[in-house]
Amino acid sequence: MLEFDKVSYQYPSEDFDIIDALSFRVEPGSFHCILGVSGCGKSTIFRLINGLLKPKAGEIKVGGAPIAGRKRYCGYMPQKDLLFPWRTVGENVALPLEVAGGLSKSQRQERAEAALAEVGLAGCAGKLPGELSGGMRQRAAFARTMLTGSDLLLLDEPFSALDFLTRISMQEWLLDQWQRHQKTILFITHDVEEAIFLSSSVLVVESTPIRTLTELPIPAPFPRERACLGRPELVELKERLITLLRKQVSP
Ligand SMILES: Nc1ncnc2c1ncn2[C@@H]1O[C@H](COP(=O)(O)OP(=O)(O)OP(=O)(O)O)[C@@H](O)[C@H]1O
Ligand SMILES: [Mg+2]
Repeated sequence: MLEFDKVSYQYPSEDFDIIDALSFRVEPGSFHCILGVSGCGKSTIFRLINGLLKPKAGEIKVGGAPIAGRKRYCGYMPQKDLLFPWRTVGENVALPLEVAGGLSKSQRQERAEAALAEVGLAGCAGKLPGELSGGMRQRAAFARTMLTGSDLLLLDEPFSALDFLTRISMQEWLLDQWQRHQKTILFITHDVEEAIFLSSSVLVVESTPIRTLTELPIPAPFPRERACLGRPELVELKERLITLLRKQVSP
């Protein structure tokens, strides 16, 4: 589904490659959380996949073909939910359709309303984002990401600003969406427990520059219940992940 082949990237203002000859593959239909400390380069990986940044060397392929010059091969939900406050929720969600062109305004609104119903926001199309709760805004942003029609979804810390209870119900909701729509999901998080609960395997950034991603499979079947987080093998994995991440923040 996604392949990095010796990809390097350097921010123009920096004197080193933050991504350095990184290679990894993601299989179709998998759910991977990318886990790493703040500033290690996680969002940079997403900006390279979605084409906002161009690699200095190497090649990125999606669905077997290089991404250079392509459009709409991935849906991207940025780190902050970027709903335009002056557009209605329906107009926000319809944005990818507007960008793609080819549909009338009423067709776009119809699709947006169906996508909103799918995320439990039927009847919210006419509201402004400011009239929704944080969790509802995240679901609207997710509906918009789904409307890109892409099989590969990049979600950058979508739940980090939510309170604990909203966050855990959104995690359950997202796993349900993933299983129903058979997408491939890459999900950035700092939260070790969130990464374990959601992932088929976790991709850990152990150091910057990023030269490898360490893949740790999560030994628990889907569908998952939160209670599985108490199982000894997952508790042990959580401690292992925390130790890996701590190594990076200690002086
Ligand atoms: N436009 C830029 N120009 C120069 N350096 C940048 C730019 N954007 C990010 N960086 C630097 O690159 C590094 C990685 O940034 P990135 O946004 O990928 O981190 P991150 O892992 O997503 O962090 P966080 O978890 O805090 O979101 C940071 O040290 C940051 O200062
Ligand atoms: Mg980031």
